[in-house]
Amino acid sequence: MEKTISFIGAGKMAEAIISGLLSSKKLTNAQIIISDKYDKRRIEIEETYNVRSTPDNAACVKEGDVVFIAVKPQDVEGVLEQCKGKLGQKLVVSIAAGVDIAFIESILDKQTRIIRVMPNISVTVGEGMSVIIKNNSADATDINLLKELLSSVGDVIELKNEGLFHAVTALSGSGPAYVFMFLEALSDAGVRMGLSREISNRLAIQTVIGAGKMAKESELSFATLREAVTSPAGTTAEALAVLESKSIRSAIVEAVKAATLKSKEMSTRS
Ligand SMILES: NC(=O)c1ccc[n+]([C@@H]2O[C@H](COP(=O)([O-])OP(=O)(O)OC[C@H]3O[C@@H](n4cnc5c(N)ncnc54)[C@H](OP(=O)(O)O)[C@@H]3O)[C@@H](O)[C@H]2O)c1
Repeated sequence: MEKTISFIGAGKMAEAIISGLLSSKKLTNAQIIISDKYDKRRIEIEETYNVRSTPDNAACVKEGDVVFIAVKPQDVEGVLEQCKGKLGQKLVVSIAAGVDIAFIESILDKQTRIIRVMPNISVTVGEGMSVIIKNNSADATDINLLKELLSSVGDVIELKNEGLFHAVTALSGSGPAYVFMFLEALSDAGVRMGLSREISNRLAIQTVIGAGKMAKESELSFATLREAVTSPAGTTAEALAVLESKSIRSAIVEAVKAATLKSKEMSTRS
């Protein structure tokens, strides 16, 4: 790929994406430039990944064909003000949670090509879920470029309806926390049944990884996969009956609904 990518903000998420891009060999070190207001962090990333860096956001913007806004949501407005008027034909990519396209356009302009991304924390291990949406000025080539870049840190899906980003936030954005809670409970259960914590943790983790991989690779529905490991009157059936009696399904649906509503509420408040 010929493009140069600028990252304004060199925090956790930017580092994960830079690391993925370099290990996938989609870009060379010289094609990445970062800026961060925190000098120590900027130099740490520059040295770790052998990328270029500058303390000056405007200089960083100038270098890139694609400009990632990778600062915390509350810092986005200030960064966009600094970028204003310097973007020309550059593609702007915001990964800030809860910052919608209309807000970005209100500071830049509608002619700027903009893509909003909702990634999740698992990009840090190359297994993230990133959902992307473009504004009217960006085109299919921009979407394909983003898909190619972000596929180095996991799966990527394009949505056409930005209103659904609240549901995305609630499902894949917050989802890793639900899985961690499930892992905690599974491991606690193993300990209660006599396994050591270490063995219980390993069993729980590998079970979640393996089931996730099967679900991803199989053409079968989740329900069919579940039935395939549930012998009549067997141990799994016994456990599933308890889970059903405790309403696990409706608890999960209610949880995702509550997170979706919270995301909507937070965006109308700001
Ligand atoms: N972490 C997640 O799971 C997750 C998931 C989805 C989306 N996101 C989004 O990803 C974005 C980045 O998150 P993160 O976890 O990587 O945050 P982070 O680790 O705090 O990184 C942001 C970096 O940008 C720097 N920065 C702040 N203002 C700046 C400015 N004006 N110019 C240049 N650099 C500036 C910060 O420096 P200081 O520390 O000195 O302020 C920090 O080093 C956020 O908007 C978040 O909503 C994160």
